[in-house]
Amino acid sequence: KGLRVSDKGFLNTAVLRSEITFIDGDAGVLRYRGYPIEQLAVQSSHLETAYLLIYGSLPSKAQFQVFHDEVMHHSVIHSDAEQFFRSFRYDAHPMAMMTTALAYLGSYYSEANPSLQGQNLFTRGDAASLAIMDKQIYRLIGKATTLAAMAYRVRQGREFVTPPTGLSYTGSFLYQMDHLGQENYAPNPVLEKALDVLFLLHADHELNASATTVLQTGSSLVDPFSAVAAGCASLYGPLHGGANEAVIRMLISIGKPENVPAFIEAVKKREKVLSGFGHRVYKTSDPRSFIVRKTADEVFKITGRDDLLDTAMALHDAAMKDEYFIKRKLAPNVDFWSGLIYRAMGFPNDYFPVLFAVPRVVGWLAHWRQMMLQSGGVKIWRPRQIYVGPGKRDYVPVDERI
Ligand code: CMC
Repeated sequence: KGLRVSDKGFLNTAVLRSEITFIDGDAGVLRYRGYPIEQLAVQSSHLETAYLLIYGSLPSKAQFQVFHDEVMHHSVIHSDAEQFFRSFRYDAHPMAMMTTALAYLGSYYSEANPSLQGQNLFTRGDAASLAIMDKQIYRLIGKATTLAAMAYRVRQGREFVTPPTGLSYTGSFLYQMDHLGQENYAPNPVLEKALDVLFLLHADHELNASATTVLQTGSSLVDPFSAVAAGCASLYGPLHGGANEAVIRMLISIGKPENVPAFIEAVKKREKVLSGFGHRVYKTSDPRSFIVRKTADEVFKITGRDDLLDTAMALHDAAMKDEYFIKRKLAPNVDFWSGLIYRAMGFPNDYFPVLFAVPRVVGWLAHWRQMMLQSGGVKIWRPRQIYVGPGKRDYVPVDERI
């Protein structure tokens, strides 16, 4: 009674007030806690930006050192996880492994489970509660790279690598992925930096589908591992974090640049979707896409030019001057170019969404923490519906049904 279904897909519904990320979709502006993404991408690092997103201000040297050391310290995973990963099929999708593994992590930490420790475990906001919360944050950010590396290596039948000491967050990740037992192995610094910039760009994007899922799930006061796993599941889809994988599949299917016009026509007839284009919020340009495009050139200097780059550029240029896309305000989003970088760096196509999920753990946790500590406590997210099914009817035994 009195309810209206007015906003399918939440096009125009604000469900909360947030201090984390600001987007002006018409002007193509993205800021984390007030800092323009362009400044952070050049001057900050993924881990420093993680601190900023979660705690609200840039850390002092000492604060960053503690945060960095805690995250890296917690990147190690219980050796039982090896058995867990070995139980997946040899061709399991890495995002399926990642989603399951994040939930699995929760089985280790009963001290972080409000069902066992009291439902106000994370909402109290006292020093003890904040310390428990911080620890789960370190664990999730630290272990995300380790789980991701395990998901990569298990499919290749390779041994897992214990997280090294003395490397950066992305350096440690690349080390765990690629380390083949060489003496003095070190990740390429240009690729390490490029991945760090990509991680930073993917760290948060306000109330996208996966962050909303984390909040929806977290609003029942479930443990943070379960909430983050739910976010990861939401990210998996091709309209969200799966888009970078979809872009490469699309480019492979198009093949040569001369096939671009036919593909564009198919999109206009709605037979195909131009993956990596369009955004719910950005209606001019996605500021992240320019930084990713620049990063791509730096990576290609090391890895060599990706053979799909010409097709991607032809597709980009054709779409940008076509009336169909102009009228609908469709421009490249962060995923259009990122897949080409990951491909050039040697990651398999279906691994790309994992490279989105690992840094997005930061944003999910920032939103989760903000919700847990909001004044007035947490209200469970329970939307209403308007029932349009049949009225009351009586059960008919199976033999009497016509
Ligand atoms: N290719 C062709 N047509 C499109 C596309 C596209 N990529 N995106 C939107 N349109 C059309 C859509 O058909 C609609 O046309 P019409 O008004 O004639 O029916 C119009 O543009 C408006 O689009 P919409 O679907 O109402 O927009 P939305 O805000 O609901 O969806 C989106 C946003 C990102 C899901 C959509 O643009 C899309 O599917 N893009 C491709 C997938 C993709 O690249 N996703 C990554 C998003 S950025 C990273 C992230 O946050 O995950």
